[in-house]
Amino acid sequence: MEGKKKWEDEAVELLSEQLRIENFAFYFYQSAYQYCNNREIALPSIANFFYKQYNEELTHAKGIIDYMNQVGLRPNFKPLSLDRTDYKSLVEVFELSLEYEEESYKHILKLYRAADKNHDYALCQFMDEYVAEQVKSIKEFSDYLQNAKRCAKGFEMFNFDAEFKSLTKKY
Ligand SMILES: [Fe+2]
Repeated sequence: MEGKKKWEDEAVELLSEQLRIENFAFYFYQSAYQYCNNREIALPSIANFFYKQYNEELTHAKGIIDYMNQVGLRPNFKPLSLDRTDYKSLVEVFELSLEYEEESYKHILKLYRAADKNHDYALCQFMDEYVAEQVKSIKEFSDYLQNAKRCAKGFEMFNFDAEFKSLTKKY
């Protein structure tokens, strides 16, 4: 009984931290949406991608809340804040995106390991989808970053934005 309670407390903390990470990603992608669509940057297709992305992060956050309600755990809602939003370039926005996706992946694996160690197979199975999603996202953002780095001139950036939709197909 003791062990069960101890794992429940640990699971609440780990899932609450993952909830914070998903909500942070939402907040960051919302700031990326704002940046890409501002008057100086004006990259509407990439901005639209970030709009979809921040909605996707909200769906990930909702998934954690729904799971916790299903198994009778109550999340802690942690504070959110962005250190800064004065991005210098699209390359920087994609670098940060990739960094945050990698951090999220690390925490998902930490959660997974702990659930496995404690024989919480329902949680492992729930996290499977999150693991697969992160693997795809990391490759996706790595591709965007490489392509953004290739754009040296204004017209190349204009073209990148115009072609962006064809790059956003998930595989
Ligand atoms: Fe996510």
